[in-house]
Amino acid sequence: MISIVAISIVLQFCEAELPRYDVYAKETAYGYTGSFTRYIGNGPFPPDPTFFSFDIYCQTKDRIHIRFYDRSKKYMNIPNVLQISEVTKAASQTNYVFEFIDKGGIIIKRKDTGDVIFDTQTLRFDHPLILEKEFISLTTTTGKNSVIYGLGSRRSRYALKHPFNYTIHNQDRGTPPDDQNLYGSHPFHVEVRPNGKAHGIFFCNSAPMQVELQDGWITYRAMAGEMLDFYIFLGPTQKDVIKQYTDVIGKPALVPQWATGFHQCAWGYKSIDDVRNVVENYDKYNLPLDVMWADIDYMDGKKLFTTDPVNYPKAQFARFISDIKEKKRIRYVAIVNPGVKIESGYEPYESLASSGYYLRNRTSQPYIGEVWPGRTIFPDFFSTGGGSWWASRISKFVKELNLDGIWNDMNEISNFCNGECDEDGGKTKYAWTPGELDHHGVQSDAVTAAGPYYLTHSLYAHMENIHTIEGLKAVNSNKRPFVLSRASFAGSGKNNFLWLGENEAKWEDLRDSISGILSSGLFGMPFTGCDVGGFNGDTNAELLTRWTEAAAFLYPFFRNHRSDDSISQEMYAFGEPYTSYNRRFLQERQKIQSYFYTLMHQSHDEGVPIIRSLSMEFPGDSNCLKIDSQAMLGSALLVSPVLEPGAKKATGCYFPRARWYDYWSGAEDKSVEANEEEESSNESNEFRELNGVEVDLPADLNTIPVHIRGGAIFTKQNYVARRLMNMKDAPFTVIAALDYNECAFGYISVDDGESVDENGDCKKSAVRFQVTQRGRGKKGGRLSVSVTEVGYNSMHVLEEIRILGVAEEPSKIHFNDQRASSFEYDREKKILIVRKAYGGDPREWMLLKEFEMLWG
Ligand code: NOJ
Repeated sequence: MISIVAISIVLQFCEAELPRYDVYAKETAYGYTGSFTRYIGNGPFPPDPTFFSFDIYCQTKDRIHIRFYDRSKKYMNIPNVLQISEVTKAASQTNYVFEFIDKGGIIIKRKDTGDVIFDTQTLRFDHPLILEKEFISLTTTTGKNSVIYGLGSRRSRYALKHPFNYTIHNQDRGTPPDDQNLYGSHPFHVEVRPNGKAHGIFFCNSAPMQVELQDGWITYRAMAGEMLDFYIFLGPTQKDVIKQYTDVIGKPALVPQWATGFHQCAWGYKSIDDVRNVVENYDKYNLPLDVMWADIDYMDGKKLFTTDPVNYPKAQFARFISDIKEKKRIRYVAIVNPGVKIESGYEPYESLASSGYYLRNRTSQPYIGEVWPGRTIFPDFFSTGGGSWWASRISKFVKELNLDGIWNDMNEISNFCNGECDEDGGKTKYAWTPGELDHHGVQSDAVTAAGPYYLTHSLYAHMENIHTIEGLKAVNSNKRPFVLSRASFAGSGKNNFLWLGENEAKWEDLRDSISGILSSGLFGMPFTGCDVGGFNGDTNAELLTRWTEAAAFLYPFFRNHRSDDSISQEMYAFGEPYTSYNRRFLQERQKIQSYFYTLMHQSHDEGVPIIRSLSMEFPGDSNCLKIDSQAMLGSALLVSPVLEPGAKKATGCYFPRARWYDYWSGAEDKSVEANEEEESSNESNEFRELNGVEVDLPADLNTIPVHIRGGAIFTKQNYVARRLMNMKDAPFTVIAALDYNECAFGYISVDDGESVDENGDCKKSAVRFQVTQRGRGKKGGRLSVSVTEVGYNSMHVLEEIRILGVAEEPSKIHFNDQRASSFEYDREKKILIVRKAYGGDPREWMLLKEFEMLWG
């Protein structure tokens, strides 16, 4: 369907005389302004404007905003996406230059290499710039043999295939075929050129669209008329691109610390007793559990803001939630859906219907859809009244049940009628669409307060989440609101968190989840994960164990969830030895949660993802560009999960050139060390390739290969508790893995785990660890610990320091000027261990205390 649409457009283009323009440009204080004047031809859906303007804002040295539009027209404002205001003065120095070609277009080049980043005259006669009322299009250049990531959301390989037409339009499809559009709209991509340089482009548009990728060019097509708006980010590394992009759309929201623990959910917990039983079993089997979730089972007839009077009576349910919270420190999150059942006497319906703040159909009547409870209307989150109607009901509901967070589901909006229910008046016909818009959705010609539904559809969940947060904040203004959403738009990550929607209990789904998480990181939504074990279908003991192992290291949001017709898949469901295996990984997750949490802070401050591709961490190694079966937790840990049934090893694992240590033993792993001779220069690449090695790694069912990168320092808490919150203040171990130069670097952030100020920030403290050589002629090394930020008064104790890769046994250790009474050295593994009990003044062994440790 999608490719037929695309082909027919290309044909129309070929048959007609296409528009061409005279280009006029002049320099301004903010960059450039100018015009395109059409001297011949028309696009596929004329009339085409004879004249339109453009503005180029040189916003920063690495960021450009370029806009083609008709100055006399008003355009829909995309709400709550842009976090920057427009500049009036151009950046004084830029890493880009412009060329304006008369009877051609606009070219933007990288200043240092001359690489063309944006070129409106690419394939100039076949794919012209088109600004029609119901169809816009622009083609620009990509490098030959570039690798492209992004353009979500969809289930695909991380490196996008081409040629292909990627539709972007929020859609609920169940488990769709690969590469089709899914729940979120993120018209943003990162391109890595063969010379290793990365840049990004954000097409700021909420209309249904299609992005066609070819080797050498990219074409944007959208239903919205007469305006094209792009932000271009010069990188030059992938991390730079994401920092620059999240400067525009907003940095990821702070996660409450409890949410970084383990979550259990199921559609099919039929009563409070079922839930109680699950909680008790988790305790009985000594399995960590931090958060329980309520799916639609708790509702009365699946109606929003109700509880089932028999199986989940409100007072009892509220007491149960308060009880497990107070006595067991387990948090509780409940699902809501935007559809409000049409039922007389049902308060949410009566009040929404009488307020008028609902979605309307094209004849201005309430738009009627069908979701779980039957026929529904939907709040119009674009109207102030609709937003506050929702926020006040969320507050009331959260207070009544003492909830810790809200799960916004079905918010694409999903609608079982595929358009309007009981409507026989047909549908509005559009000049062009990027495929079927109404599939499992609201009819495109519905109307919201911000404009036609087809333009606001992909923003609906984004707005719902904002008003949900308003509701949560009204209950607890200084606590981080926890809202998990299925649908999203560019910029949603600054408000809410995300899971990747429905998957299946299949090995392919475990594998694809890595790409999904990597892509969400690019979209500024790093706190994400998939349903562990798989949602649809029945999982099995082996798959659940492998999934748990991978998720413990790679899913920032770590939740086991299944459908109502799947078998039980709690972490104890398959008995021994699987329960023990799963316990091991739930506990390991708790031990490294301070590292996850530190990365979450880094994401919030800078925008960089928590889970990163190898290509992001090793930009000089082009072998990494397409790897999506392994990923990195921050810069320190390389995770190589087993993704096949019956396997006793992880196959085809790639290790870029670095010193690597086995996470489990702390010993250097020479089997993954790149051989000096493998360094080669590759003719097809302009940059020198530093080859790593590809290996198979042994991995019985109760283990997963994880490696520490030489040069990294991270923290662990070598304790276990059933609740993360019971061990969040546990003493720390600092692990420093030396690189080939015997250096290492890392840091940790700590805070109170929950509070947030009115700007979405918190007071935290940060400690920086650095290992360097002691200097010429001196044996051993130096660990310097410095406190770089003091906003939170942490009383954390530092109880152990482990230095991995210390070649020779030291003869003595000093803390500041005091000699340590003792230390340990593992000759075989070459690990130096210094414990609190052995070293220096015990008062120094606080996390927030600066000191220096010398060994030699
Ligand atoms: C759809 C969601 O994707 C799924 O996670 C949830 O369990 C069902 N709706 C039922 O609420």
